[in-house]
Amino acid sequence: MAENTEGQFLEPRGEQVSEAQIAVHWREEGYVPPPAVFIGQANASDPAIFERFAEEAFPECFREYADLLTWDSYWHTTLDTSNAPFWRWFVGGRLNACYNCVDRHLATDRNKAALIWVPEPESADPVAITYQELYRRVNEFAALLRDFCGLQAGDRVTLHMPMVPELPVTMLACARLGVIHSQVFGGFSGGACGHRIADSGSRVLITMDGYYRGGELTDHKVKADEAIEAALRNGQEVDKVLVWRRHPGQYASRVPMAAGRDFFVDELLARYRDQVVPPVSMPAEAPLFIMYSSGTTGRPKGCQHSTGGYLAYVAGTSRYYQDIHRDDTYWCMADIGWITGHSYIVYGPLALGTTSVIYEGVPNYPDAGRPWRIAQRLGVTIFHTSPTAIRMLRKLGPEEPNKYDCHFKHMTTVGEPIEPEVWRWYHSVVGKGEAVIVDTWWQTENGGFLGATLPALQAMKPGSCGPGVLGIYPEILDEDGNEIKAGSGRAGNICIRNPWPGIFQTIWGDPERYLETYYRKYCKNPESKDWRDWPYFANDGAVQAADGYYRILGRVDDVINVAGHRLGTKEIESAALTVEEVAEAAAVPVIDELRGRVVEMYISLKPGVAPGKEIEGKVVTAIETEIGKIARPRTVWIVADMPKTRSGKIMRRVIASVSNFTDVGDVSTLANPEIVDDIRHHVQAQKAARGEVPRQLTPEEEAEIKAFGQAE
Ligand code: WTA
Repeated sequence: MAENTEGQFLEPRGEQVSEAQIAVHWREEGYVPPPAVFIGQANASDPAIFERFAEEAFPECFREYADLLTWDSYWHTTLDTSNAPFWRWFVGGRLNACYNCVDRHLATDRNKAALIWVPEPESADPVAITYQELYRRVNEFAALLRDFCGLQAGDRVTLHMPMVPELPVTMLACARLGVIHSQVFGGFSGGACGHRIADSGSRVLITMDGYYRGGELTDHKVKADEAIEAALRNGQEVDKVLVWRRHPGQYASRVPMAAGRDFFVDELLARYRDQVVPPVSMPAEAPLFIMYSSGTTGRPKGCQHSTGGYLAYVAGTSRYYQDIHRDDTYWCMADIGWITGHSYIVYGPLALGTTSVIYEGVPNYPDAGRPWRIAQRLGVTIFHTSPTAIRMLRKLGPEEPNKYDCHFKHMTTVGEPIEPEVWRWYHSVVGKGEAVIVDTWWQTENGGFLGATLPALQAMKPGSCGPGVLGIYPEILDEDGNEIKAGSGRAGNICIRNPWPGIFQTIWGDPERYLETYYRKYCKNPESKDWRDWPYFANDGAVQAADGYYRILGRVDDVINVAGHRLGTKEIESAALTVEEVAEAAAVPVIDELRGRVVEMYISLKPGVAPGKEIEGKVVTAIETEIGKIARPRTVWIVADMPKTRSGKIMRRVIASVSNFTDVGDVSTLANPEIVDDIRHHVQAQKAARGEVPRQLTPEEEAEIKAFGQAE
């Protein structure tokens, strides 16, 4: 394989590519072939794999993924489409996700590290938890959940936990009982957590008293009290709060424990020492977890993921795309509170019996060399992170990776498009030219990767995620449902023509919204039971090059991707509208060199209210309280009025253009065109004074800004 020319790498299916075509590709971005050493050890290095996952083999091709798992009873129907588009995978099969991630590895790998946890304070040593130890802890905690909390299969439990091993222990204990976990990102506010408690109908909240972040032990329990109140306001009572302690025996929070409601886990666990809880055999289609994400309307969507299909899909993609072997030391730096962490820190790697690293803190604490010291210390072989983290580490310590003896065979990126220039630094400096890079495009809804290169068989191309992954057949459609051909240079909506095992099952409690958001737009026949009539609309814009590789351009709904985190415009705006003085609010994205996009907030005030710093501060606080610090706007602009259409709709694209110093386009049909110049002068003068003028936008960025706010 190493002898292959780059031309052969382009076409894994064996088709010939002319020199002229290659030249065209090279002008776009050059191909980078995988290193020979990588190919020699890869899980997927035989091109026959493309035949096995060709469309003619669908859906049975996914047996290969399901066969990576241990089933209590084998399924009879690989894909049931009788209630399209509510797909059912591996119907008739039964299994337990915890058994697959823990118990079944004991026979061969009992005393190998399942997890290595790296506390943020560098004075503390890493902590290795073997599969045997994980088994013990999960069983004890499952006994506590069952016997102390009375939880059973199908119940929902909300987790609001930081990056500590107690988080996967909690998730796996839930999975052992068939209890559906809903982990809320630890950085979200108590209020945001409370809404998710209510939406999922959880009567138990599991949290931690505090954790280290940026050198400080934060008080996290305080958020639990806020969450309980917010849940109650939304009609959901919580009867138990289980509080893990960051330092067992020492309480890190200033808020009191509520008697009869709040319990320290380390105290309760003493009662369950060495208890063993049999894993509950669950139907393949039983929900494993709910993960909330943002969309066009204000309310977060609870994406419901299945047990069998999801676990099969993350195991299969971890094997072939992450190239995880049992003896790898795999480190994904994402937070387990996001889908990446669920799929590619916990379930995928543990299903394959590898060692998964969990780091508690921020990547640049105490300096930008930290990730490379961790990799050196633990001997990490596979590294997985986001473009935002890469941009930040490059800015703060461009030479740092060279100082450490860290060597990766494989590096992943996820969450946002990565600029070719940043990609090259990742490749040559972080990877020292020795690693493959896999740029993975996917979403909370998808369970696992949709677009990426198969690392030993498809060359990398900086800035492109690659073709559809095995068993995924994407297409780009225009607004009328016509296909936009590869190589046309035109962008459109990327869709997936077929269902796959990792796709979410529905939006928790809102099947209508599931249909509406993902399937109505391009459904060919609403009565049809044939999957070919139900393309999945991903809500992302994309272009496809002649070689089949996709470049993802970003969201087409009103979602702002800040540092790889999906924030709903409407969620931010409704938070701002909780401030009494605010009459109208609009959130817009601003191109940012480090974080991809940041949020700027425009507000107008109720009559008689005078503008001032105090109101700006109230808006920021409201957003932090309702959502969390990640949604904090860079600036709050108070304007006399918003540019509006004659029907009264706020023209977000116009203010987004102002914030990004790009042409506002034709505003003559607005109800109040004169306001646009006022806003522009005010905003751009202040930005210029602060040195906040962005560089010239690329055509894609320009198109994104001009289309912003059109999704309603
Ligand atoms: C964006 C994260 C470009 C995209 C797994 C998608 C990407 C949203 C990439 C999902 C990538 C994710 N290149 N854009 N490799 N990966 N995105 O739900 O807009 O948090 O729709 O899932 O991130 O974000 P989510």
